[in-house]
Amino acid sequence: MNIVLGITGSIAAYKACTLIRQFVKAGHEVQVVITPAGKEFVTPITLSALTSKPVVSEFFAQRDGSWHSHVALGQWADAMVIAPATASSIAKMAHGVADNMLITTYLSMKAPVFVAPAMDLDMYAHPTTQANLNQLRSYGNYIVEPGTGFLASHLEGKGRMEEPDEIFRQVMDVLQPEGCSNCSQEGRLVGRRVLITAGPTHESIDPARYIGNHSTGKMGFALAEAAAAEGAEVELIAGPVALSVKHPRIRRTDVVSAEQMHEAAMRLFPSCTDGILCAAVADYRPAQCADVKIKRETQAEMTLTLVQNPDIAAALGQVKTDGQRLVGFALETAASAEALHYGEDKLRRKNLDYIVVNSLCDAGAGFGVDTNKVTIVSANGQQQSLPLADKSEVAREIIRRCL
Ligand code: C5P
Repeated sequence: MNIVLGITGSIAAYKACTLIRQFVKAGHEVQVVITPAGKEFVTPITLSALTSKPVVSEFFAQRDGSWHSHVALGQWADAMVIAPATASSIAKMAHGVADNMLITTYLSMKAPVFVAPAMDLDMYAHPTTQANLNQLRSYGNYIVEPGTGFLASHLEGKGRMEEPDEIFRQVMDVLQPEGCSNCSQEGRLVGRRVLITAGPTHESIDPARYIGNHSTGKMGFALAEAAAAEGAEVELIAGPVALSVKHPRIRRTDVVSAEQMHEAAMRLFPSCTDGILCAAVADYRPAQCADVKIKRETQAEMTLTLVQNPDIAAALGQVKTDGQRLVGFALETAASAEALHYGEDKLRRKNLDYIVVNSLCDAGAGFGVDTNKVTIVSANGQQQSLPLADKSEVAREIIRRCL
């Protein structure tokens, strides 16, 4: 494959050399495009020696004035990987500020683009960086999430460019899903598109308060990773959670309320082959959200009128076509036998193909913890109980048995 590797001005540029070696060793051709600032961190001589190709940096070759065609590069490439990507380059990419060869190449790119951010923790967390990354996601670019750890600034936090091994794996998982490194059955879900809801919803009472629940989204995010690892494209609709996605085939839509989750699910489900409804959606929301913060002094007691939220699972169950599969979850406070009974009832009412039942009575199951203990009930009445295990292991089993 032909890979355009974009390098921008970050200390993590030294890791690009290892990444090049990995692509070259795996038999791929690499063409480096580097920004002027990138050259301050790693020399073109090193890069051209590793790639056996002259490095492209300027619009024109200084030697003979010949034009470097970013359009031709855009057509030559099977993928563009920008690693490291600084906050500045990400902003330019998001807004089309084509003032260097790397950005013009990005704008001309026909192939999938992977962006591996590298910056200080505060720069990464800044709303403008996050908004720009979301902008890139909306263009269909894959973001290789940075890791958390020791940064060049001697601070510790999220912003450290992902290691070359992991960037290589994520790129290859997309380009060659049938050979993906951590598939339990290689590429079994290639061609499938799976909608997953995850996390809680927050229902506003006033601009400062909400009604919520204890869901952290861990199970839903683990399901998204497991489905993507087997080759599926994942549409993850996440309520307010403090989690990030790793796999580049997961496209994330963030929502806050049940109504927003319902709108996103109804919009995305028709283009999906499967749906897994793992979110702990609030059943009710305040009939009205106050415009200003409700003052304690004004009333000794308060009564909130709640109205029912849409049941997303049931709504998708109604529009589900023959080829589509729907998996729901039922978290119960009853003991196992009774919990299963409630689960079966939900499966029928919501027109699901499977329901994954878990009980808060079981130690190690439910909200917040890293483990879960579930029973999968299918529409034909079969029950499969899985042992208590890590949520990522449980997720792999659910994906394997239900999709
Ligand atoms: O709340 P309940 O126990 O009925 O949830 C069972 C299933 O329905 C879960 O899969 C949950 O994600 C889904 N659900 C939903 N929308 C709701 C309530 C529940 O999608 N408003």
